[in-house]
This record gives sequence, C-alpha cells and structure tokens, in this order.
Amino acid sequence: AHLIRRRVPVGDWPPEWFHVEDNIRCRDVLLDHGLAPGQALAAALERGATSILGEIERSALRGRGGAGFGSDIKWRSCRDAWGDAHYVICNADEGEPGTFKDRVLLASYFDLVVDGMCIAGMAIGANKGFIYLRGEYRYLLDRLETRLAQRREQGLLGRNILGRGFTFDIEIHLGAGAYICGEESALIESLEGKPGKPRIRPPFPVTNGYRGQPTTVNNVETLALAALIAVRGGEWFRAIGTPASTGTKLLSVSGDVARPGIYEFPFGVSVAEVLEAAGARDTQAVTSAGAAGHCLAADEFGRRIAFEDVATGGSIMVFDASRDMFEVARNFAHFFAHESCGFCTPCRVGTAVNARLLDKLAADHGSPYDLDEMAKMHRLMQGASHCGLGNTATIAIDDMLVKFRPAFERRLHSPDYEPAFDLDAALS
Ligand code: NAI
Ligand code: SF4
Repeated sequence: AHLIRRRVPVGDWPPEWFHVEDNIRCRDVLLDHGLAPGQALAAALERGATSILGEIERSALRGRGGAGFGSDIKWRSCRDAWGDAHYVICNADEGEPGTFKDRVLLASYFDLVVDGMCIAGMAIGANKGFIYLRGEYRYLLDRLETRLAQRREQGLLGRNILGRGFTFDIEIHLGAGAYICGEESALIESLEGKPGKPRIRPPFPVTNGYRGQPTTVNNVETLALAALIAVRGGEWFRAIGTPASTGTKLLSVSGDVARPGIYEFPFGVSVAEVLEAAGARDTQAVTSAGAAGHCLAADEFGRRIAFEDVATGGSIMVFDASRDMFEVARNFAHFFAHESCGFCTPCRVGTAVNARLLDKLAADHGSPYDLDEMAKMHRLMQGASHCGLGNTATIAIDDMLVKFRPAFERRLHSPDYEPAFDLDAALS
C-alpha cells in the first residue's frame, strides 16, 4: 500500500515561512525526518567519503530535479575528475510552473539541505559550495544567510567542521528570474557572472563545471535525501519506492484540488492516489512535470509516478472538467516564448510562432492547417533545439493537441483557409 505522506500547505506567499501541517501521520522519511541540525553531517564524517559513496550507490538515489540521473555516478565521476578545485552546486532555481517543493525544503528543512551539500562536498573532495537561489525566493535570502552564519559559529560549516579536519563553506547566489538558469550549464554561466546561456554538453559539469572545474550540480531535494541516507544507510532507502525509482518523491500539487500543497509519496504511487489525497474532483487532465512534461488524460490516472513510468520533477498541476485545455496550451506556449533565452533558432522562433498560432486560433482565425503546422514545428523543435528548454517546450502542448483535440477544433472557423506560405516546402 502506498502511504500518504505529510502534506505541507502552500501557505501565504511571500513572505511567510512554511510549516509542516501535522494532518497526515507517516513514517520518518523526508518531511518527517526528525534529525537535529548537523546530525547527518556528523554521521557522514564518521563513515568517511568512500563509505558515503557506497551508501549512495546502495540507495540507488536518482536526481530529483526531473531527469533522474544516478547520484552515485555523478558524485564518483566528479570526485575522479582532475581539477584545481571541486565544487558543489545546489540548484535551487526552481522555476518549473507548478513546482514549489524546493522552496518548502529551503524554508523549513534548510539544515538537512546544508548537511547534504557538506556531505556531497566531503564525498567528491570539494571545499566550496553554492546555492543558486531562484530570484523569486529573494525573501528567503536573509534567513538562509543567518542560518549559515549560525552554523559557522556552531562548527557545522566552514573550517574544521565538527573538529574533524573537513573544511566546507557555502555561498548563496541569487538568480534574476530567468527560467533557463535552472538548466545546470546556464546556471553555471550565470554563477560565473555571464548571461545565462546553456553550454554544449558534454562535457558535463562533473568534469567541466564552475570555472571549468569538476562540479556536482544537484537539486535541493536530492541533497536533502543524501543527508538522510548518510544516517540511515542505502538499504533503508532502497526498500522504499520501486526497484528503478527508490525512495520517496516530493510532489507540489496545485490547481483544481481541495488541498493543494506538498505531498511526499513513495515512488510507484498512482496518479489517481495523488489526486485522491489532494481532494481532486472531476479531473480531466494532469500535467506531470509542470509545463515541460507530459499531460495525462483521465484514462491514464492509473499510471505510476516513477522514472520508469510518469517521470516528474515534482510538479502536478490538476485541471478539472471546467477548464479549457486550449487556453492551458496557449498559456504554456506564452510561458516558453517568454522564457526562451533566444540563443538558438529552433527554440527562439519556434516558441514565438507556437504562441502566435495559438493566439490566431483564439482570435477565431485558425484552420486545420495551423494545427498540422504546429505539430510539424514541434517535431522540429524537439530534435534541433540546443538545450532542454526547446526540446521539452512542446511536450505538454503536443499531448493536449492529441488528447484534447476538440478543445482546439472548436476554435477552427475557416476550414477552407489557404496558407499564403508553405512551411513544408520551405523546410524541404
Ligand atoms: P540531463 O538528463 O541532461 O542531465 C541530468 C543530470 O545528469 C545533469 O546534472 C547532468 O550533468 C548529469 N549527467 C547526464 N549525463 C551525464 C554523464 N554522462 N556523466 C555525468 N553526468 C551526467 O537532464 P537536464 O537537461 O540537466 O535536466 C532536464 C530535467 O530538468 C527534465 O527532467 C526537466 O523536467 C527538469 N526541469 C526541472 C525544473 C525544476 O524547476 N525542477 C525546471 C525545468 C526542467
Ligand atoms: Fe536558449 Fe531555447 Fe536554445 Fe535552450 S533551446 S539555448 S533556451 S533558445
């Protein structure tokens, strides 16, 4: 059975701190960890770097930002890479629409995240870490800085941590509100003081990261989980979830639900169970990874949240039957047109044309030709874009075009429309 984890209310925004609402009891996983500040770090220092890497491998921990890359492979590759210095970056540039789990972790579980960063530093041989904080989370900055200063005084950060000869310090860098800076190489560019344009990967940051040095970039939730694993061990973690997706996942659930908030579920929970926990009624669609992931229709709610089925960074947006899925698609298209960094043509032009075509339909000037062109252009963007933004910007819209076709066809008022420009011919 899939236990329902604690729910954290969305809370006032900003500038209130969030607190865990004790309305659903659960076992002691992330939202209920019960560890004192520095406890995980002390356990890790006791175990030593090699043992920690072994536990992370045993846990089969995968990155919680969305891609699910193996954390042990990332840490080992980084540790083994040659460099003058190694770095740890906590990616707190949580920008995916509908995702707000990391802000709760930073606000209410910050010590666990810092412990996780220190542990990553110890494992890969780094003495310096950065938290790249989303610009919109500026209101958290003073409190986080204060807590880092307190930890330095308590011997939990800085020189000779806990008297064990390990030095590691953290700097917080505030983003400026660009979605693209959540992409790790754009984030690193921004951290170096340059415009946030994605680099060509490979080489990956584990070998060529911050200032060209070996760098581990991990999501906030991944680092918090690594801290728990340092205390409880890899086998404990591996026993939760599915064989391919171990542990729990924090989900930010929003939209047409009675109880929006942060939920912690073991991987393998079905979409239907999540909807039931959040009090969703009459749901027609769920976007599984914000605007950049698949859009599921009602006949797919039996599918499982797991990297091998419905992969997600944690954003579950729920749309009930009253919502016009055409308008949802149009909203997503405008979001990506706004957030495209403009570096490469398929994404810069594709996202803009996408938004304009949907505007054209909204203005009652659409034709079936426009829908076909949109689908064709999406394939081009998915294959030719320079980074993940362009490659994923059309996934949800494509799903909506197929699964909620009537919402788009209702907008077609000129079936005999003759295009003045043949995109097919121009591309061939
Ligand atoms: P990716 O699959 O290219 O890389 C994932 C991680 O694995 C990166 O840290 C990368 O450096 C590392 N990696 C991959 N291959 C490697 C190798 N051979 N050696 C060493 N390290 C390697 O995915 P990407 O483009 O970094 O992230 C895409 C994900 O981000 C998507 O799942 C998307 O949904 C999610 N996303 C999350 C957002 C959020 O707010 N949490 C916002 C936007 C996207
Ligand atoms: Fe920039 Fe989009 Fe190209 Fe990525 S795909 S480099 S966001 S223009």
